[in-house]
Amino acid sequence: MSRLQGKIALVTGAATGSGRAMAQRFAAEGADVVVGDINDDELEVTAELVRGCGRRAPLRHCDVARVDDVRQLVATAVTELGGLDIAVANAGIVESDTDCLRMTEAQWDRTITVNLKGAFFTLQAAAQQMIQQGRGGRLIATASILAEWGSPLGPAYAASKGGLRQVVKSFAMSCGPYRITCNAIAPGFTETPMIRAVMADPARLAYLVDRTPAGRLGQPADMASVAAFLASDDAGFVTGTMLVADGGMTAGLYSAAAYGVTPKATAAG
Ligand SMILES: NC(=O)c1ccc[n+]([C@@H]2O[C@H](COP(=O)([O-])OP(=O)(O)OC[C@H]3O[C@@H](n4cnc5c(N)ncnc54)[C@H](O)[C@@H]3O)[C@@H](O)[C@H]2O)c1
Repeated sequence: MSRLQGKIALVTGAATGSGRAMAQRFAAEGADVVVGDINDDELEVTAELVRGCGRRAPLRHCDVARVDDVRQLVATAVTELGGLDIAVANAGIVESDTDCLRMTEAQWDRTITVNLKGAFFTLQAAAQQMIQQGRGGRLIATASILAEWGSPLGPAYAASKGGLRQVVKSFAMSCGPYRITCNAIAPGFTETPMIRAVMADPARLAYLVDRTPAGRLGQPADMASVAAFLASDDAGFVTGTMLVADGGMTAGLYSAAAYGVTPKATAAG
């Protein structure tokens, strides 16, 4: 598919995981992509993957906790590629296994700053540029299924993603008149460096897979597919929403497999 032919995109947190997959997918669908991250070495690899699709890939060190960095990232899209049509606020971190009772002020501040403030100002800088251009646009933020749920071992993370869900609705309202949509993606557990500790622990991995009707964790490519849809003309009437991509994990209260029941197909009629 080449739904993004001639478009100019920007992805934060593009060095690894789902951000890298989004950048590559956007390029495969015809977009040039500005990529930003704090991990410069891996960011170079992402840029090479974009160039491998025959598209341009300016890269820039960008710490989304610094508002000036995200503004510079948008400026890079304008000066090097000529504008901006699609922006994904994807950079994120999770505090490691810290519950509400042990959370430090520094951990809280860092998670909220990167995940919520960083995403907000990424969307703001992108929206301002898109409004100035006057040709519409697509704003996307990577939230999480934890935007809807509490987390015993990541309460600041859950708070940041819940806040981001509301931020996306607010941008949808402010930007609608300019033909700019704003939506969130809510990944379920996805095999990226962010959850490497889970992937290295067979018991935790089995627990999560058992609770996922699809029978597997998400892949970065799954999130890239959703991002490409939201970035495309196909999603022109979709705004202010959060698209959950979790293999069904949050569809129900418990899974049949985890409950000890194996659903059997029955012949109809
Ligand atoms: N992996 C999961 O299970 C999962 C589930 C739900 C949501 N998410 C979200 O998906 C998004 C992408 O994460 P991922 O799963 O690909 O993990 P990841 O760790 O591979 O990617 C996160 C990227 O963000 C970058 N980053 C971290 N702090 C940054 C900062 N201050 N400025 C700029 N870049 C920064 C990292 O260097 C990394 O490249 C995140 O927002 C994350 O919260 C992930």
